[in-house]
Amino acid sequence: MIRWTVPAALAAGRWALSRRRRRRERARPGELVPWAVAGAVAGVSASALAERRLAGLLRGRAVLVTGGTRGLGLRLAREFGSYGAAVAVCGRDRGRLDRAVAGLAGRGIRAHGIQCDLSDPEQAEAVVEEAAERLGGLDVVVNNAGILRVGPRETMTTADVEDAMAVMFWGPYHVARAAWGRLRESRGSFVTITSIGGHLAPPHLWPYACAKAAQVALSEGLAAESQGSGVRVTTVVPGLMRTGSPRGAVFSGAPEREYGWFAVCAGLPLLSMSADRAARRIVRATVRGRGYVVLTPAARLGMAVHGLAPGLTQRAMALAGWLLPGVPPEPEQRPGTEAGQGLPGVVRALSALNEGAGRRLNQPSRAGSAPPGDGGREP
Ligand SMILES: NC(=O)c1ccc[n+]([C@@H]2O[C@H](COP(=O)([O-])OP(=O)(O)OC[C@H]3O[C@@H](n4cnc5c(N)ncnc54)[C@H](OP(=O)(O)O)[C@@H]3O)[C@@H](O)[C@H]2O)c1
Repeated sequence: MIRWTVPAALAAGRWALSRRRRRRERARPGELVPWAVAGAVAGVSASALAERRLAGLLRGRAVLVTGGTRGLGLRLAREFGSYGAAVAVCGRDRGRLDRAVAGLAGRGIRAHGIQCDLSDPEQAEAVVEEAAERLGGLDVVVNNAGILRVGPRETMTTADVEDAMAVMFWGPYHVARAAWGRLRESRGSFVTITSIGGHLAPPHLWPYACAKAAQVALSEGLAAESQGSGVRVTTVVPGLMRTGSPRGAVFSGAPEREYGWFAVCAGLPLLSMSADRAARRIVRATVRGRGYVVLTPAARLGMAVHGLAPGLTQRAMALAGWLLPGVPPEPEQRPGTEAGQGLPGVVRALSALNEGAGRRLNQPSRAGSAPPGDGGREP
């Protein structure tokens, strides 16, 4: 009996002692308040310091954003400009360009607009020259301009693939050649907005995926030979973003149905990222000279799985393609401003965030609706 009671009593005593110690160590809720306040103050100070550092690094810098007249490009121009950089933006549409420049100037940003078609090599090179001349140099070039055609492969022509390549591969190629010397001098940054579509080709975006894959190689190839040049090369790989882009895209086959699935995917919060957040991340990555930035968890996951099991992602894309609208007996083609008219209520509700972004980011308006706006952030 004694053999068991002594160790049992010792163990019970040890347990009681350790319980008392644990209770004493456990802080009372009131004691946590100063720590929480200190943590919050430290967090706010760190972010204020980071903001000041960004402003210090960007104030007075010269930034060219191609396709900065609407969507992500316009949001990027605002972000760079908000830290004191002077920005040049370009696009094909004169009215949209003027609205974008006026909106930037209204925010106190020194902005210059250049009307151009980047698919023309001479115009692509001239954009760089004009931007450098008007801004007094060139510190950052962001290759952002892009075009989007959505529809089954059977409705895409060779000209569609050539157009996509001209804007998203050859345009950045000529911009890179024209800007490299200036960026070497300024020890600047060359940033390219590619796409997850350049890593794993989604269905109904054939020309886009071809051009984006070439654009990824363009950016990675430049980075591979940039060591010692002083130029920092950043490859940005966004997943879906809420830039309001469906309105400026072209839809073929069954345009309304194509618009519907694309607008829903690009508008869902879990699948897509707000243009505000994307722009903030891209500007910070540029300033820090990061080589690679993958936006959205879905894009990160897609790239990881594709790297490990490309056959699996290819099969998943084929399944997604099978679920998308087929080619109708009489295929049509329409701009997003028309294809997005008269959508069913559920599609309108699911794409509402993206539509709102379109209104704030100078995207083309639908026939009969108010002109695009320039203010506000996405909630
Ligand atoms: N939105 C997304 O979900 C998403 C996802 C992945 C990657 N991205 C990429 O991110 C970039 C920005 O996307 P976004 O959604 O903001 O696109 P967006 O709204 O369609 O804007 C494209 C911009 O490029 C300009 N542009 C088009 N063709 C041009 C040309 N030939 N010459 C000069 N400018 C031209 C457009 O202006 P004009 O029409 O006036 O010429 C516009 O300013 C693109 O490269 C896109 O591929 C977007």
